[in-house]
Amino acid sequence: MLDQLVEHLKAATDSGQPEKTIKTLLKAFVEQPEQAKSAMPDFDQDEAILFEDDQISIWYCRFQPGTSVPPHNHNMSAFIGVFHGTERNDMYERGDKDILKPLKSTDIHAGEVLSIAPDAIHGVTCTSAEPSEAIHVYLGALSCVDRDLYDMEHGTVLAFTDANYSQLTQDKN
Ligand SMILES: [Fe+2]
Repeated sequence: MLDQLVEHLKAATDSGQPEKTIKTLLKAFVEQPEQAKSAMPDFDQDEAILFEDDQISIWYCRFQPGTSVPPHNHNMSAFIGVFHGTERNDMYERGDKDILKPLKSTDIHAGEVLSIAPDAIHGVTCTSAEPSEAIHVYLGALSCVDRDLYDMEHGTVLAFTDANYSQLTQDKN
């Protein structure tokens, strides 16, 4: 089931309407959350790249309860399909002097899909008592683009690196 989803998502990039097709595929995958969860291998890591090429990146993303990852951009369209727990997405826009202005927060529950515009900035928090688990899809090679991370405490913009990401990720446990 997971392999099939990955193949269908890859094919979606040639569909002429990749955004619409990806959203439909993700919705169909997560709308029976328990079935989706049972289709997942037991990942050792909280993040796993299931596939990446120039057209599309497909990730498994798990966030532990209370964990918040810092606001960041993707510079490409992104889609989040949650199949376990709840992933809160806090959306922002850039204000003066790199200060981020909050736009809105959306709780994505198991069975729901969120689409994010290429220029969007979001932070993610797991708000459920159990870890949140989701498939994240990006229309491009996510590991190859320059991206920004936002340090909310200091009002600064940092390069998106593993080190900066880890340093700014908050574990409230
Ligand atoms: Fe993200």
